[in-house]
Amino acid sequence: MNFKMELAVLKEKGLFRENQTYVPIDGAYVFAAGKKCLMLASNNYLGMTHESEVRQAAIKAIEAYGTGAGGARLTTGSHPLYEELEANLAQFKGTEAAITFNTGYMANVGTISAIMNKNDVIFSDALNHASIIDGCRLSGAKRVIFPHSDMQVLKGLLESTKCAGKRLIVVDGVFSMDGDIAPLSQLVELAKLYDCLLMVDDAHATGILGNGHGTAAHFGLTDQVDIQMGTLSKALGSEGAYVAGKKILIDYLINKARSYIFSTALSPADIGAANAAVKILMQSIRLPEKVLANADFMRRELKMQGIEVGGEITPILPIPIGAADLAVKVANHLKEKGIILSVIRPPTVSVGESRLRLTVNAKHSQSDLKQAAVTIAETIKEIKGWKR
Ligand SMILES: Cc1ncc(COP(=O)(O)O)c(C=O)c1O
Repeated sequence: MNFKMELAVLKEKGLFRENQTYVPIDGAYVFAAGKKCLMLASNNYLGMTHESEVRQAAIKAIEAYGTGAGGARLTTGSHPLYEELEANLAQFKGTEAAITFNTGYMANVGTISAIMNKNDVIFSDALNHASIIDGCRLSGAKRVIFPHSDMQVLKGLLESTKCAGKRLIVVDGVFSMDGDIAPLSQLVELAKLYDCLLMVDDAHATGILGNGHGTAAHFGLTDQVDIQMGTLSKALGSEGAYVAGKKILIDYLINKARSYIFSTALSPADIGAANAAVKILMQSIRLPEKVLANADFMRRELKMQGIEVGGEITPILPIPIGAADLAVKVANHLKEKGIILSVIRPPTVSVGESRLRLTVNAKHSQSDLKQAAVTIAETIKEIKGWKR
C-alpha cells in the first residue's frame, strides 16, 4: 500500500483528518469559515488564554527575558520565571516539588519511561491518553491493561501478576474522551495493598476538579498520589505540563527524563502566562466553580432536548453518534450553523463508538449554551434521520 491509497481509504471511511483554521476572538468565540462561531471544542476550560492578567504576564515575560529560551533547562534555558512557576505549582498541588515539561505528551512519555524499566510492571487503564500508552511502551516494562475503571478486574490482575521490580498504576484523572473521573479512592487502596506507585494524569482536571487543584484534591487524597501530572496547556491557557510529587521524584526526573533533558525549554511567554494562571487559581475558586456550573447546565439542557450525554460533572460532554461518517456530517452541519465541536473517531476511540465531544468553559454564557443545545439536538435528529 502506498501513502495515496492509505489516505484514500481513510477518506472513504470518514477517518481522514486535516487541520482546521480558527481565529480566536475570546474564550468563547472564534472566527471560522467567515463567521463568528461558538467554540465548544477547546480545552481552554477557564478561558485563561484571554484573561488580561495572563496576557499581560506573557508580554512582561517576553520584555524581561526575550522570546525564546535558547537552550534546554539543564544548559541555558532555565530563566528565573521557571523557579517561581515550579514553586507555585508545588504549593498549588500540595506537594514538595514540581517540574515542568514542554508538553503533556512529553511529560507522560518522559516520566513513565524514566521511572519504569524492563523489570517492572505497569497497570494502565484501557482508556488512558495516547501519551501514557506511548510512555508505557517506551519504558520497556511489562504492560497490563485493565478494562476502563474496572477495579474488580484490576485487583485480580494485581493479585495474579508477579513482579520482582516496581509496579505502577497509571490513570487519567478525568478521561479526555469520556469526561468521567477515575475512581481514585479505590485506586489509592489498591496501590497501597499491592505496593504500587500511583500516577494520575490531571490534564483535564487541573483548574477544574477539587477547586482547581485536581483529581487528588477532589477526593481529599492529595498526599496519597505519588505522581501528579497535569498540563499548562488546557485550563491554564498556556503550553507545557508539570509533574508534582516528592522532591526525590522531581530530582530523579530532572536527571533521567529524556524528554526533559534533551529539549529546549519553554519560552518565557509560556511560563509567564502559566504562572499568572496558577496565581489566579490560588487566589480564587470563581473560575473552577463557573466551569462546573456551566457543564451541569449544558448536560441538563442537552438531556432536556432528548440527547444522550456521557461523562460526569466535568466540562467534557461526549455525545455518542456511532458511525464516523455520521459524526462528521453532524459536526459539519453544526459548523455551518456557527457551532464548533470535535468529532472523535477511530483510532482515538473504537470502531462504532464515534462521538461528538463538546467542551464547556467558564466564559460561555448560559443563553448561548441553551441555544446551542437546541441546535445540536435538531441537527443530530435531522442527520440521523437521513438515508445513508
Ligand atoms: C489526558 C491527557 N494527557 C496528556 C495530554 C497531552 O497534553 P499536551 O497537549 O500538553 O501535549 C492530553 C492532551 O491532549 C490529554 O488529554
